[in-house]
Amino acid sequence: MEIILKLPDEIEKARASNRIVAEVLSRLREKVKPGVKTKDLDKLAEEITEKRGAKPAFKGYRGYPYSLCVSINEVVVHGMPSKRVLEEGDIVSLDFGVDYKGFCGDSAITLPVGKVTEKALRLMEVTERSLYDGITQAMAGNRLGDISAAVQATVENAGYSVVRDFVGHGIGKNLHEEPQIPNFGKKGRGIELKRGMILAIEPMVNAGKYEVRILSDGWTVITKDGSLSAHFEHSVAITDNGPDVLSKLN
Ligand code: MF3
Ligand code: CO
Repeated sequence: MEIILKLPDEIEKARASNRIVAEVLSRLREKVKPGVKTKDLDKLAEEITEKRGAKPAFKGYRGYPYSLCVSINEVVVHGMPSKRVLEEGDIVSLDFGVDYKGFCGDSAITLPVGKVTEKALRLMEVTERSLYDGITQAMAGNRLGDISAAVQATVENAGYSVVRDFVGHGIGKNLHEEPQIPNFGKKGRGIELKRGMILAIEPMVNAGKYEVRILSDGWTVITKDGSLSAHFEHSVAITDNGPDVLSKLN
């Protein structure tokens, strides 16, 4: 296997796909409040996606049964929409992807439900900042480890831990392409980053220890120690002008 480099017109296709993802996440963000059923968020995501002529990228992926991942509190990633309702004080990660005209987009945000604790706010803030610190390193000539190390430093300097068992990924015609992008590593190590790569960088950050386990549903990933977890993700193209965040909300 190898890393598939994208031409400028392919990056524009990926941008169109990621724009739909960003639109969906921004509409879902308006809906997130106490009392909302997580399955209704999944439904809304599907409706918008269909209206835009795109296909949900997660549904059916390795048998995943929904379009959206909804990961509440100690759920790290891959929480499944259900009849569960959001409650005041929860933090909720919404992770969404589409396939539009043959290119995939993928992004995630973590949001507060109503009023949340200072601790929860700080966890989300640090996680999002670690994503941006990783993105800043997504430049041609840098190494993959520069991204990983930047994310890890921000997280660990804040006293949190980076999940080891799940990583970011290349993205393009397929949701998951090479390379894998760990959120931990060493500066100067790993493959050289090149123009035309599109990387889905997605720190998963636990307030406690980094260990996770998967529930018996085969999907839901939770922190082993029950601590809160946050998750942010952007799809980022490496261009001659530096990182281009294809999934940014605007
Ligand atoms: N953003 C996640 C990822 O890139 C979502 C995948 S969920 C799955 O891995 F259901 F599609 F597997
Ligand atoms: Co992803």
